[in-house]
Amino acid sequence: MFEAAWSVFGGVADRLEQARALPGAAYVDPEVFAGEVRQVMHAGWAPVARVSDLAKPGDYRSVDLAGAPLVAVHDASGTIQVLSRACRHRGMPVVEGSGNAKAFTCPYHLWRYGLDGRLAAAPAMDGSEVFDRADCALPKVATELWGGWVFANVDGRAPPLAPRLAPLAERLAAVDPASLVSAGFLEFDSPWNWKLMVENFLESYHHIGPHAQTLQLTNPGLGTYESLGSEAFTVLENPPVDDSQAPFSVAAAFPLTLMSFVEDGSRTGVWYEMDRIRADGFLLRIHLLAPPDVARDGAFAEGMKGLVNAVHLEDIAACAGAQSGMASPLYEPGPLSRLEAPLWRFHRHLRACFGN
Ligand code: FES
Ligand SMILES: [Fe+2]
Repeated sequence: MFEAAWSVFGGVADRLEQARALPGAAYVDPEVFAGEVRQVMHAGWAPVARVSDLAKPGDYRSVDLAGAPLVAVHDASGTIQVLSRACRHRGMPVVEGSGNAKAFTCPYHLWRYGLDGRLAAAPAMDGSEVFDRADCALPKVATELWGGWVFANVDGRAPPLAPRLAPLAERLAAVDPASLVSAGFLEFDSPWNWKLMVENFLESYHHIGPHAQTLQLTNPGLGTYESLGSEAFTVLENPPVDDSQAPFSVAAAFPLTLMSFVEDGSRTGVWYEMDRIRADGFLLRIHLLAPPDVARDGAFAEGMKGLVNAVHLEDIAACAGAQSGMASPLYEPGPLSRLEAPLWRFHRHLRACFGN
């Protein structure tokens, strides 16, 4: 049974031929969003860093995973772990951004934590009868490494990720995502619901519209198809228009991991990271991924940034436009095309998260 607000997912069809878009309320109702935070984003595995960005002891990277401030850190013992970065005193994030540190000192009242989260020092707490240093560690968050990402599961109850993604790992074996490193990123404020970003990423039907002068010329939308899919992931193939162009794949590990790879042996790609997700928007970082020798070549990053930026500007108009229709009382969810099979997979994932 669905609680009232979540009934928006109850109508997700069992078959693609019956599938429709989600109701508008799924994109505008704060109660739906609160349910998603708890049952989808904090209940699943979300990428919080690339392993290659945490190469040395002390390297850290902060994110906000749908309202949970976290830090991924390579600790002194050589282990990569994810900690809550909400101070155990009064909640201030103890660190922001990324870098290398020996300890995390909360900027509010200077409580100092080791890289393993243990509280090392707290000024002027000697009179407190309820203060116990050992009780004030930053909570450790369930962590798994897959495909070169550090994944976190906030509620600690998700089943292991790798077994569910085994067919995806096999499909991407030639790309070997774990061997790729960051070659730079672009950042965009994105004032639309996070699911619209996932959906936009996962279909190339719209190459014929917003990307008519870019991707449609190289990888025509009507030739795309889903090659693999389950309630945990999907892969969309984008064949080239002819031999002078490269195929690319688009894949997602639900709910939040969005990746795309050029499939011509060059092993370059992108990771769309959704940070600071709120009901009405998020911060999008589009990371460029490449083999280490290619990533070191600044010309590659500059060329790729230009392309990615041009395509994303076209997607911004699409996502912002779709969001503007979702609040209308006159919007009724339309039927999905066969070209949108990955959206139907995503919707089935959401439906499963709400227990049906
Ligand atoms: S909130 Fe962190 S030291 Fe007070
Ligand atoms: Fe697009």
